[in-house]
Amino acid sequence: MGLINTKEMLNKAYHGGYAVGAFNINNMEIIQAITEAAAEQKSPVILQVSAGARKYAKPAYLMALAKAAAEDAGIDFALHLDHGADFEICKACIDNGFTSVMIDGSHFDFDDNVAVTRKVVEYAHAHGVTVEGELGKLAGIEDDVKVSAEDAMYTNPAEVEAFVERTGVDSLAIAIGTSHGAFKFKGEPKLRFDILEEISKRLPEFPIVLHGASSVNQEYVKIINENGGNLANAQGVPEELLRKAASMAVCKINIDSDIRLAFTAGIRQTFVNDPAAFDPRTYLSVSRNNVRDLVSHKIVNVLGSQGKAGK
Ligand code: G3H
Ligand code: 13P
Ligand code: ZN
Repeated sequence: MGLINTKEMLNKAYHGGYAVGAFNINNMEIIQAITEAAAEQKSPVILQVSAGARKYAKPAYLMALAKAAAEDAGIDFALHLDHGADFEICKACIDNGFTSVMIDGSHFDFDDNVAVTRKVVEYAHAHGVTVEGELGKLAGIEDDVKVSAEDAMYTNPAEVEAFVERTGVDSLAIAIGTSHGAFKFKGEPKLRFDILEEISKRLPEFPIVLHGASSVNQEYVKIINENGGNLANAQGVPEELLRKAASMAVCKINIDSDIRLAFTAGIRQTFVNDPAAFDPRTYLSVSRNNVRDLVSHKIVNVLGSQGKAGK
């Protein structure tokens, strides 16, 4: 059991009408929770690492933990770089054994985005690594780069064919109204399914990626707020909208904020219920169980990927 790229995984998801969850990892407990849930549900899964995660946990630890998890849970999964900012970080991850990378050139103009993405694809494909590109800008925080709601831009469907053809990317992240973080919508949540539809017509059988796809489960927000937290007006993408996207061309759904909320809820609740607790294993176990339940719930109720591992 070990690390695999996303080619087959996303291709099968496309044809099966489901999506693969891409969950952000930052520590051992999160890695264990995700891989144990995926093993239990016999689901394909992607573990993804941001630049912030590399800074926090150090690349060598994350790689060793990921390999240990593949062995321990007895599953294959992809280890993916999330929001790679430039060629150098993508190359470093490929050289270190990542099986998939994202080059996020969405802040460049079209030609520069094509150029950097093409360069990453050439290097990655020579090493059996798959590449995700991005067209369009999501609001929110992407690895310390803040994109305001005014600067966010939907993906222009007229650009997607040329981008995919000129870069050779294996999947494409698009902007249809989601954003990073736990505060995604002011009013009623809406996604531009018309843009997704148009993009998938122009890119037949091509896997689309949805970032900023946490649902901001109100159960965890409530636990956090009832136990000393203050997350007013947190709101995510409703599960039914994600299920619809997964039944369309969206084959990879990115989830980070939901993990943070589930993890934080476990710690806050334990400290309030048990003020004498000071063994990290006590509260981290509660958080790890929360994340395991969350990932299982996503696999079964949102992604539809249960039972699809290796199929
Ligand atoms: O794309 C954003 C992800 O949630 C990663 O967040 O840069 O704080 O690790 P991070
Ligand atoms: P969320 O903030 O909605 O979890 O999005 C995570 C993401 O897109 C990571 O790339
Ligand atoms: Zn993202």
